[in-house]
Order: sequence, then C-alpha cells, then structure tokens
Amino acid sequence: MSDDHLVIAGMGAGYGDVSVLHDISFAVPRGKIVAVVGVNGAGKTTLLSAVAGLIVPTRGTVTLDGADITRTAAHRRTGLGLAMVPEGGRLFPFMSVRENLELGAYAPASRSGLVERMSEVMDMFPILRDRQDQLAGRLSGGERQMCAVARALMSRPQLLLLDEPSVGLSPLMTEKVLATVTDLAAREGLSVIIVEQRVTEVLAMADIGHILDHGRIVRSGLAADLRKDRQVQETYMGL
Ligand SMILES: Nc1ncnc2c1ncn2[C@@H]1O[C@H](COP(=O)(O)OP(=O)(O)O)[C@@H](O)[C@H]1O
Ligand SMILES: [Mg+2]
Repeated sequence: MSDDHLVIAGMGAGYGDVSVLHDISFAVPRGKIVAVVGVNGAGKTTLLSAVAGLIVPTRGTVTLDGADITRTAAHRRTGLGLAMVPEGGRLFPFMSVRENLELGAYAPASRSGLVERMSEVMDMFPILRDRQDQLAGRLSGGERQMCAVARALMSRPQLLLLDEPSVGLSPLMTEKVLATVTDLAAREGLSVIIVEQRVTEVLAMADIGHILDHGRIVRSGLAADLRKDRQVQETYMGL
C-alpha cells in the first residue's frame, strides 16, 4: 500500500474567469520532499494557495491523510498539520522575531505547547535565539527566510508548503536555506512541497520533481533523474 500524505487529483484553479491551473495531479509520499519548478507566472503560488485552502479549486480534489479537504477552510487545515511559508516570508517587520514566531502558534491546539515549541524551534535555528528581541524587519534576507520557516514550524505541522524560499537570496544563501529545510524535514519527519524557480538547486534537495509550465505539469520524475535529463537541463536549467 502506498503511504501518500497528500494527493492532488485533476485539480484546476484560477481567479474569477481566469483559469491558471489545469488538470494537476500528483501525490506527496509521507516524509518526502516534492519540488514543483517553473518560471515566474507558471502557477506555483496558485498551486500552493489551493493546497493551503486560500483559494478553492474549480475542479478536482485535494486529499490529506485520505480525507477530502478540497473545500476545507485554510485555518482548519492548520489543525490538520498543514503549514505554509509564503513567498518572501511575510514577517511582521515591526514585531520582534519572538513575536513573529508566537504568531505561528495562534491556533488553540498549538498555543498550549508554545513555550516548549519555541525552545525546540530556536534549537533548530540558533540564530533566531540570538536575534529573538530584534525587529524582524532588521534581519538579513537569509535570516528572514529562516524565521518564516521557523514560524510555520511553531504549529507542529506534518506537511510544509514552501513558496520560493530563494527569492532575494544569493546562490550561497539559497543553498544554506534549502539544506536547513532538508535537515529539519528529515529530523521532524515532515512532508514538503517546495515551489521554486531555482530548478538546479531545488532538484538537488528534493526526492520528486514536477515541472509546471503555463499551469500544467509537463514533466515528472525522481528529482535525481530530472536533473540528469538533457531536455530538462537545456529547457529549464539553462545548461
Ligand atoms: N490574485 C490574482 N488574480 C488574478 N490573477 C492572478 C492572481 N494571482 C496570480 N494570478 C495570475 O496567475 C498566473 C500564475 O501566477 P502565480 O501562481 O503567482 O505564478 P508563480 O507563482 O509561478 O509565479 C499568472 O498569470 C498571474 O498573473
Ligand atoms: Mg509565486
């Protein structure tokens, strides 16, 4: 029996009359990192928004742990173990690092273990412990992204959705952030969907890859196989 954490089947989504995603189907096996790569405007954020419940798909289904969540409200999905790191992190710049982290645990279920979880999360990101009283707006790009990931972890998610964590980061810092994600996914047994434009870097850390082009998945495979594929290299990796 397969152990799929999340299954997206025949999903379509868009905004009003504009349809953006067409017939999206893929699964996220438990504990695996799934990368969805594509250029700006391909539909990556729309895809994550539909999984997070921020928009309702026009077709198809989203199933989490075997239960249909296609129409489940976003805040209820948090309670089901889903957490999203939005593009750019979306921290509150005039609040401290600690206050931003606390906001990740606003759901009643997470609030009870807040103090303990805060300490665990700071163990994972020691730099955030050092900077806990600093305003989030004063963090460097890399620290901000770490803080956004840490905030998502405050609700003890099982499935993490990451929207282009590399935006605004240098290649070196991108590698560092992605390595951190890989590490903690393994440590916490997380399943991850990460969407990215940095194809080469993200396929190096993911287990499975899908290429999204104009709202459709045009290639899928083991990330390691996609990386070695000549056509993928020429078309999407600029090699
Ligand atoms: N709120 C919105 N209203 C209308 N169209 C949108 C909205 N957000 C995104 N789009 C359109 O949907 C398409 C996919 O966007 P998006 O999912 O943000 O792509 P990506 O994250 O891959 O850059 C683009 O053509 C974009 O203009
Ligand atoms: Mg986007």
